[in-house]
Amino acid sequence: MTEQTLVLIKPDGVARGLIGDVIARIERKGLTLAALELRQVPTEVAAAHYAEHSERPFYNDLLEFITSGPVVALVAEGERAIAAFRQLAGGTDPVEKATPGTIRGDFALETQFNIVHGSDSSESAAREIALWFPALNS
Ligand code: PPS
Repeated sequence: MTEQTLVLIKPDGVARGLIGDVIARIERKGLTLAALELRQVPTEVAAAHYAEHSERPFYNDLLEFITSGPVVALVAEGERAIAAFRQLAGGTDPVEKATPGTIRGDFALETQFNIVHGSDSSESAAREIALWFPALNS
């Protein structure tokens, strides 16, 4: 089942020089890149991306963080790409949930600064890819 998933290397991952490492893990897994761009995130895009979390207590912190510096947005493609990237990323909490060998398990200490985002379902992937790369599948 070939899928596409939206991956963000968040401002902490970019600032810490982890772009190459994250992309290498995606490619080594066997996924291919269908789109890739370094960009500063407009507040409207950040708000739309995280709209489902708008009632959560950390929402404002999340928007402030994701707009605090450039991110790398990319679309990774391949068999079961959504679950495959979530496996590479590890759990949201980089200490309690992510295991060593995953991106978050290897590189992060705090949930807010967890290096990467990956779409969590096919519905989210379709919505997020349309938001970040509207021309990709049109
Ligand atoms: S998940 O993966 O959607 O089940 O994770 P969830 O716990 O629902 O978190 C959703 C996103 O919010 C981020 N997050 C936080 N940011 C700042 N502070 C706190 N306390 C916090 N808790 C969760 C988390 O990293 C998820 O971001 P993304 O970009 O989707 O991974």
